[in-house]
Amino acid sequence: MPGAVGHLTRRFFDVLTSKPLLISERAAVESWLKPEMVEVFFDQMDADQRHGYHAALSVISDGHYDGEVITAALMHDVGKRHARLGVIGRSVASIMILLRLPLTERVLLYRDHGRNGARELTELGAPSLAIEFALHHQGERPQTIESRLWEVLIAADQAPKARTKADV
Ligand SMILES: [Fe+2]
Repeated sequence: MPGAVGHLTRRFFDVLTSKPLLISERAAVESWLKPEMVEVFFDQMDADQRHGYHAALSVISDGHYDGEVITAALMHDVGKRHARLGVIGRSVASIMILLRLPLTERVLLYRDHGRNGARELTELGAPSLAIEFALHHQGERPQTIESRLWEVLIAADQAPKARTKADV
């Protein structure tokens, strides 16, 4: 539970302070993703775009230039956008989930974002690694993802967001 609280606290401030991606950062994302996935990536709220972008930078800095690994990092949270929750709503949802309170439909969508994102990625023809990571990133490593690669992707999901002052 303390680890979960720490993660939620970090994510709260990340979401609260995130700036939109710069034009150059958007161009990098477009160069990494297959065209059919670009629209879905940019349909996310700014904070999730930036989170995915920094997850991609993290796997690259770990030496993973493979498009499937970068796609897995970029797209793992796309299911979150269906819940249409802002920073406060997400915080409330996370607390409700942690405390095992009765959940509303939107909170259920937020809780199940991995499964919903994986389904969407499957429909988009995403690489199996991206589908599997979206599906499992909140839980245990599946046998389909090799343990070292799993550690790299999980670390990317935790990666601190670099701050930017740009307002492009
Ligand atoms: Fe994430």
